[in-house]
Amino acid sequence: MKNLIIFFVFFINIFAENIAVVGSGYVGLVTGVCFAEGGHRVTCIDINQERIDNLNKGIIPIFEAGLEEIFLRNLYKNIFFTTDSSQAILDNDYIFLAVNTPSNIDGSCNLEYLKNAFNQIIRVVEKQNKHKIVCTKSTVAIGTNSELQKIADSSVNGLIKVVSNPEFLREGFAVQDCFAPSRIVVGGVDAQICKRVADLYSFLNVPAEKIVITDLSTAELIKYASNSFLALKLVFINEIANYCNKMGASVEGVALGMGLDERIGNLFLKAGPGISGSCFPKDVKALDYSLSLKDIKGIINSISAADSLHKKNIVSVCKQYLAGKQNPTIALLGLTFKAGTDDLRDSISLLLIEEFKDIATIKAYDPKGISNAKMLYPELSYYSSPMEACIDADLIIVATEWPQVAELEISKLSKIVKNKNIVDLRNLFSVPELKKYDFDYFNLGRTS
Ligand code: NAD
Ligand code: UGA
Repeated sequence: MKNLIIFFVFFINIFAENIAVVGSGYVGLVTGVCFAEGGHRVTCIDINQERIDNLNKGIIPIFEAGLEEIFLRNLYKNIFFTTDSSQAILDNDYIFLAVNTPSNIDGSCNLEYLKNAFNQIIRVVEKQNKHKIVCTKSTVAIGTNSELQKIADSSVNGLIKVVSNPEFLREGFAVQDCFAPSRIVVGGVDAQICKRVADLYSFLNVPAEKIVITDLSTAELIKYASNSFLALKLVFINEIANYCNKMGASVEGVALGMGLDERIGNLFLKAGPGISGSCFPKDVKALDYSLSLKDIKGIINSISAADSLHKKNIVSVCKQYLAGKQNPTIALLGLTFKAGTDDLRDSISLLLIEEFKDIATIKAYDPKGISNAKMLYPELSYYSSPMEACIDADLIIVATEWPQVAELEISKLSKIVKNKNIVDLRNLFSVPELKKYDFDYFNLGRTS
């Protein structure tokens, strides 16, 4: 693999381009590092001075497997970090926008950060009078890139070409996904410009059939439709799991049987705590909002509501376990929205902490998410061992599928808890084993 990468670097160096990436968070940093490894000269920009200072010292602000090694290999060679966006825009021909696009209160996509970044580009181009290709990696509402193109044309006509280049990486697998992407989508008005952007990825040797060159709106919608479809799969299997709980059927058996039909596929059919993370919740809401503007109200509109019901059910199950206990102790195993990341955004744990922090003592475990959690909830007790977090617990809640949690020895656990209650939102443990040690075990649709 290493030899392959060296070969690609040599190959692409002949075609190396100057790329600026605006926003050095999960997507911007991973994209920048990937391009740098591919031989391009990359400058990553952020408005967060502390983040940039740390990156310049070689300190990565996020946990992502495999990222640090590639980052350090390229630092000061092919990748640079700055808060001076004007200079970085001046120096580079391709500007990637990877800033955050959170939800507005009405669910629509908040484009404030993106527009600020874009206006900055226009200001620089007005002075420099040089062509730039602006590639939007941030997930943006359908029509946004056309709007940006119009804004650019009205001030620096012809100098800025806007391209939509949505990102499909998963946290925890971000490096893997960047180096072996499921597809590269490039949307734009000018096919030649789209091709130039697709060519930036040529060092990855992505097969031609996985490169989608299309128009701006289609590219934007591919991103929203993909995330919403995946969220729909999650909501669907969680509803089936709920029914399995009532009928004594096995959700794992159902998922296995369904997944053997290639048209359905066996991925993304694990029952869990619901749609979570930095993107699914906001992207489903944003697509729903966009559809509502065109009077379309159907299945996409029902995803968030079905997910809320699932989460309400989880809270009410936990409440039943705590009923009648004075200041009960909850061991919360896992804080991040999934294993392999330190990202807490929209995780089930945040919802459970909000729900129970005033009526229970929460002892939280997470191998990667504690420092982020401490910034939000300094008052909780944090543990670096899941077993320790469970001492004297009245209720154990498994929120994240960390291997360290899955490996807990039930025989030992049975000796240290105050009450033998587990709500397992990741279906990690064996039902017969928990029965053997007399645990009251709630899981999502499992019989064994
Ligand atoms: P993030 O919050 O981790 O990072 C965004 C960064 O942009 C922050 O560091 C912020 O300080 C910076 N920023 C904001 N305005 C800026 C400006 N004007 N100039 C320079 N920097 C600025 O966000 P993220 O998770 O990387 O997501 C970025 C975008 O990518 C979002 O639209 C998201 O929906 C999309 N996306 C995210 C993922 C993911 O797994 N996180 C995957 C695919 C797509
Ligand atoms: C998701 C998409 O998978 C990426 O393709 C997309 O680029 C990204 O959103 C984005 O736009 O931000 P991510 O949020 O990193 O990636 O996480 P996922 O792996 O999709 O998982 C989301 C949640 O669903 C996690 O809590 C996970 O544990 C849960 N999940 C996933 C299940 O409960 N069951 C499953 O079968 C799969």
